[in-house]
Amino acid sequence: MTVVFAALEAALEEKRLLVEDALRRLAPRGGGEGVPAAVEHTLFAPAKRLRPVLALLVAEVMRADSRPIVPASCAVELVHTASLILDDLPSMDDARQRRGRPACHLVFGEATATLTAFALINRAYEVLAEDEGLAADTRARLARELSRAVGLEGMIAGQAADLAFTERAMDFRTLEFIHSRKTGALFTCCAALGAEAAGAAPGEREALVAYAKNLGLAFQIVDDLIDVTGRAAEAGKDVRQDAKKTTFVSFAGVEGARQIAQELVATSVEALAPFGPRAEPLRELARYVVARRR
Ligand code: IPE
Ligand code: IPE
Ligand code: MG
Ligand code: MG
Ligand code: MG
Repeated sequence: MTVVFAALEAALEEKRLLVEDALRRLAPRGGGEGVPAAVEHTLFAPAKRLRPVLALLVAEVMRADSRPIVPASCAVELVHTASLILDDLPSMDDARQRRGRPACHLVFGEATATLTAFALINRAYEVLAEDEGLAADTRARLARELSRAVGLEGMIAGQAADLAFTERAMDFRTLEFIHSRKTGALFTCCAALGAEAAGAAPGEREALVAYAKNLGLAFQIVDDLIDVTGRAAEAGKDVRQDAKKTTFVSFAGVEGARQIAQELVATSVEALAPFGPRAEPLRELARYVVARRR
């Protein structure tokens, strides 16, 4: 298992480095007080870059060149990073550590942290608009896709419900609603992005999005597990942070949550059946998602 895991992490690492390079080119730049330093602090802290990597793998599994969607996949990472800065604020999760560094607001203050999140989201849509590697109508479709993933039926809805239900009981369906939106939405957006780049047929796109939906849910359950069972030094962020929240772990226990995550990954992998052996990189990514410790 450890050997497989290491080989897989090496494969992801190659893509991660590619994303890292592109982000250096695409990050928001400019003067101003504090914000550029805060971008550097949070965007370029050690991160998995899993969402853009997912988009690139989907395109490649569909036998497309993934290079044209590198900027668009980075746009998703910019939005994701913004969401982490906001999620850590005292008014949200009040976290102290992120990506192995002190949370953005603890270094730069809440006002600069908020503006930095704004700058990252703003830049994401600029990157999409300026992306000359894609046809104009594709850019417009991707901008709408990202906006819906973030919007009032996507990540924002999930985050709002997550906060509203802190210290309040909820049923399983509500918990799934929260996870699939606060985290799942950007995963499905990335699968759609990869499918779009490959000119996937509607049925293929549907299968890839189904894969990403279950993968995103499993990813958040593992995140909940890391909060209970992990170490901050390895996770790069606070652990034992979710005590006041209903999570899959508080709902089903550690073993129960692990089992649900495994079942979701099995379901996500089933969606890849029509693609046969060529979807192996996505199956490996799914195995990584349940085995990860950070
Ligand atoms: C953390 O996302 C927030 C969740 C949705 C669980 P990641 O675990 O992908 O964090 P980074 O981007 O690698 O820091
Ligand atoms: C955060 O979920 C999801 C978003 C930032 C949208 P969590 O609050 O569980 O993420 P971590 O554990 O702080 O990374
Ligand atoms: Mg949160
Ligand atoms: Mg949090
Ligand atoms: Mg968490």
